[in-house]
Amino acid sequence: MFDILVAGEINADLILSGNVKPEFDQVEKIVNSTTLTIGSSSAIFACGAARLGLRVAFIGVCGDDVFGHFMLDEMQKRNVDVSNVIIRSGGQTGLSVILNQEVDRAILTHLGLIADLQASDISDSLLSQSRHLHVASYFLQTKLQPDLPDLFQRAGSLGLTTSLDTNYDPSEKWLGFDKLLSVTDVFLPNKTEALSISKADNIEVAARQLTNKSELVAIKLGADGALACRDKEIIRSESISVNVVDTVGAGDSFDAGFIYGYLNDWPLEKSLRLACMCGALSTQKAGGTDGQPTLEEAMKYVS
Ligand SMILES: Nc1ncnc2c1ncn2[C@@H]1O[C@H](COP(=O)(O)OP(=O)(O)OP(=O)(O)O)[C@@H](O)[C@H]1O
Ligand SMILES: [Mg+2]
Repeated sequence: MFDILVAGEINADLILSGNVKPEFDQVEKIVNSTTLTIGSSSAIFACGAARLGLRVAFIGVCGDDVFGHFMLDEMQKRNVDVSNVIIRSGGQTGLSVILNQEVDRAILTHLGLIADLQASDISDSLLSQSRHLHVASYFLQTKLQPDLPDLFQRAGSLGLTTSLDTNYDPSEKWLGFDKLLSVTDVFLPNKTEALSISKADNIEVAARQLTNKSELVAIKLGADGALACRDKEIIRSESISVNVVDTVGAGDSFDAGFIYGYLNDWPLEKSLRLACMCGALSTQKAGGTDGQPTLEEAMKYVS
């Protein structure tokens, strides 16, 4: 029924742009623009994959509140099936306020129900409806974390492949990966995350070390594109030069492109190039989802 099940966190992003550095002592500053948009790595990935034409289902937890319904509506509009999302009355949906200043940003997040999804919420019958399971924001999904290796193993035994984008570890400890990576088919860190997790001091060593555990690793390098590693072979892809509005969700859009190629058995080089294009094109609009390309739009840059 579905190509991908995303087991993820749900939060909305409120993005303020312009002269956004707050001043205390009750100073009121006027900012240039505000956008309320789909936040959370997992939801942005789900929308990116659906935009490319994959059939995507999402399971996560949100509140019965304005931000929860906003997220469900926006995901549904983008063809993500949200019928398995758990709506918890009495809880609050996660919210991030993003203060966006040219290429840099500061983020204030209220976690709310972000971490509430548990492996026991994800039944075998739900898993069996998909051929791939993706998890992002590993470090934020604290209730899912301890059981994630078992969940990936369960998914594998039901015939699903698995992918993981940890994103940043707020505790900066980067612990607890060996078992998880050994049941992860595709690992999708960025450069900082790959170096921190592998404890390597250069990116190629990190890539090779990580593929001792996960079969396939793609590492995002921002404007420099990305590299992928399988069977010790390293492949690189450049990005393209784009007019960046903001880079929110570039990594998640990249992941969607890479998994598109993976699920279609594309050569690694082509998957990596599509992933880089999905990341690059996503930066041209505010927020994570509005700039995500269709397959046709992205393929203009993939030979
Ligand atoms: N400034 C940029 N110019 C061109 N391409 C970019 C730029 N920023 C990101 N990309 C593209 O998007 C991909 C993913 O972006 P990035 O490396 O920032 O991921 P990330 O660090 O995981 O991001 P996120 O903050 O979403 O977690 C890159 O590999 C690249 O192809
Ligand atoms: Mg990332």
